[in-house]
Amino acid sequence: MNIQEPKIIELPKILDERGNLSFIEQNNHVPFKIKRVYWIYDVPGGESRGAHGYRENEEFVVALSGSFDVLIDNGKEKKSFHLNRSYYGLYVPKNTWRMMDNFSTNSLALVLSSTDYDINDYIFDYDNFIKGVDR
Ligand code: TYD
Repeated sequence: MNIQEPKIIELPKILDERGNLSFIEQNNHVPFKIKRVYWIYDVPGGESRGAHGYRENEEFVVALSGSFDVLIDNGKEKKSFHLNRSYYGLYVPKNTWRMMDNFSTNSLALVLSSTDYDINDYIFDYDNFIKGVDR
């Protein structure tokens, strides 16, 4: 698995008349060991969050419910991913600027992270990130 590029990963889907089931295994469907899990919910429709980068942290983002866009910028190239199915996840490499945008009402964003929460791992200055001063 190429772990330098953002990438949509399709998760297993066990179809069942009683309701479908998907799952995620570390080092299998996500290319890292999962250290932390958080989720973003009760986001007002159309709202944005998470405009920053991480120096070391890698992420895997799933729209468990509803939809939102994840905008990715590695300093050379920008990409936008629309997440709207609970069996697709977006892998976000380290050293990537990312923003979550256009949340639908009642959406639920699940984020798996490769590191513990550490404010010092955040990259907040987009201009410095783009200039390569801070990345
Ligand atoms: P943050 O990552 O800054 O989200 P956003 O960029 O969308 O504002 O997190 C918001 C707040 O939540 C911030 O005060 C730090 C706290 N937080 C934790 O304490 N632990 C975590 O794992 C995360 C992701 C955030």
